[in-house]
Amino acid sequence: MTTKFDLVILNGVVVTASDIGKFDIGIKGHTLTPSFSAEEIAGAEIVDAEGGMVMPGGIDGHVHLCQDLKTGPLGLGGECADNFETGSRSAVCGGTTTIITFATQTRADEDRSLLKVVEAYSARAEATGSYIDYGFHVIIVRDDEDVLETELPVLVEQWGITSCKLFMTYETMRLQDYQLLDVMLAALKHSITTMIHAENGEMIQWLTEKLESKGMMAPYYHALSRPQSVEGEAANRTIVLAELIESPILFVHVGSSASAAVIRAAQTRGYPVFAETCPQYLNLTWEDLKRFHSPTCFENSKMICSPPPGPDSSDQDSLYLGLHNGTFTIFSSDHCPFKYDDPHGKMVGILEHEPSMRGPSREDISFPELAHNKVGSFRMIPNGIPGVETRLPLLFTRGISTGRITPQKFVELTSTNPAKLYGLYPRKGAILPGSDADIVIWHPEGTLPPFTLENKHLHHNVDYTPYEGMKFNNWPRYTILRGKVMWANGVLLGKPYDGEYLKRGPNQLGKGVAHFKKDPRRVAAWVRE
Ligand SMILES: *[C@@H]1O[C@H](CO)[C@@H](O)[C@H](O)[C@H]1NC(C)=O
Ligand SMILES: *[C@@H]1O[C@H](CO)[C@@H](O)[C@H](O)[C@H]1NC(C)=O
Ligand SMILES: *[C@@H]1O[C@H](CO)[C@@H](O)[C@H](O)[C@H]1NC(C)=O
Repeated sequence: MTTKFDLVILNGVVVTASDIGKFDIGIKGHTLTPSFSAEEIAGAEIVDAEGGMVMPGGIDGHVHLCQDLKTGPLGLGGECADNFETGSRSAVCGGTTTIITFATQTRADEDRSLLKVVEAYSARAEATGSYIDYGFHVIIVRDDEDVLETELPVLVEQWGITSCKLFMTYETMRLQDYQLLDVMLAALKHSITTMIHAENGEMIQWLTEKLESKGMMAPYYHALSRPQSVEGEAANRTIVLAELIESPILFVHVGSSASAAVIRAAQTRGYPVFAETCPQYLNLTWEDLKRFHSPTCFENSKMICSPPPGPDSSDQDSLYLGLHNGTFTIFSSDHCPFKYDDPHGKMVGILEHEPSMRGPSREDISFPELAHNKVGSFRMIPNGIPGVETRLPLLFTRGISTGRITPQKFVELTSTNPAKLYGLYPRKGAILPGSDADIVIWHPEGTLPPFTLENKHLHHNVDYTPYEGMKFNNWPRYTILRGKVMWANGVLLGKPYDGEYLKRGPNQLGKGVAHFKKDPRRVAAWVRE
């Protein structure tokens, strides 16, 4: 006898981006089917949600894996701590079933081809496998007209890569305004979404040199090198540039109320601006850059990411408001993992800075001891913190449980909107007939005693979490990928090659209002004729 379903989820409170209600869900093969009778579930594996929330699996549109960065004059760091296996393992244990990672062009590379970059990252993913489904954004660091013209269509058609990320800061990656316009226009022609890291690189460089001349180089001063106007100015400028050529734009990892207000103002005018914020901006502040032992302790480098979180928690209210009121389209982790106690991790901030440390014997150095005596230099420290596994539970604990956002808004920000923005909907991000059976099920309210997070609970390959000691009141109880239970009651059941590569379509969230006024004082409409 063939069974109607392979798996059924009973007694759940099903939450989508628009609705919430008690429904059972049936899964056959890889896909979902709603509505069935009790007899029909005979022979199926049963997951009893016991009244817990059942949501579409998390989609994390901002994850760095296998992406080594060369920081400092010696180019020692930093090695990305997670590969596709460990990064996706961490993701699935935190309720995420799809990640979009970055394939990065480097300027130092003589070969300018973007296709070769994507092939290389694809090989890295295939080398270890991924527990969950994955796709790529491409990071473009040069405006080679010939490459853009011939390769962007191939990226879209053959690889299903429909988004690129551009940087306005970092010496080795940043594009000048002229180059930003070049790449944005080329992307626009192929309906590729432009994501932007908006920070004014020259302001940062200038402030960094001033801080250095005063000997202010401990990790804490990273925050002082990036006042919030650095991000606000870059966001303002990007909108002006994008509007000149009528390109929609997506701001990633927005960390300040200043930038959120700039984005909101453009949206209110009807301009198609999308925005992302991340967990670090909802729970960390400058104080965390002074958290360990003393304000100048190098261990504070664990908290360095760009843009930095706000000086105090006052920005958090406006970021939560922005999550609630639609300013933010998506909520992603910006998982960018570097180990702390490692010569190719955060320790690069000391090794690159101290001439005495530069030698072939670096691998023998006892790092905790070394770090104890030195402050290093924030400019050399690899930027980034891990967070792919804590993303959903953190927003659940601090957003849903506190009533700052509804469960439906949570689903919209963490799954449905990323699926639409990155061209995966309704295969992903939905609980609809025919959608992939990607599901996260939470513990029924009040049944998981609040617990204090320790890094050993997590499944990444990083030796710390910035959220060590934080209280969580819920955690994904089950994660299901295309009908397969991958994570259940604290046990990892999935395998590294369960994940598949995802070809994506264009942005489904639209290009803004049709009657958006083309003001010749702002828009060079003739450019696209
Ligand atoms: C952005 O530009 C607007 C209009 O020119 C200005 O009022 C605002 O202060 C700017 N914001 C930032 C953060 O630079
Ligand atoms: C929505 O949130 C943004 C970001 O915090 C804020 O700037 C804006 O004032 C809010 N708008 C409304 C109408 O509440
Ligand atoms: C971060 O979360 C913890 C709860 O575990 C809370 O005590 C702390 O105040 C939060 N920090 C900020 C800056 O929101």
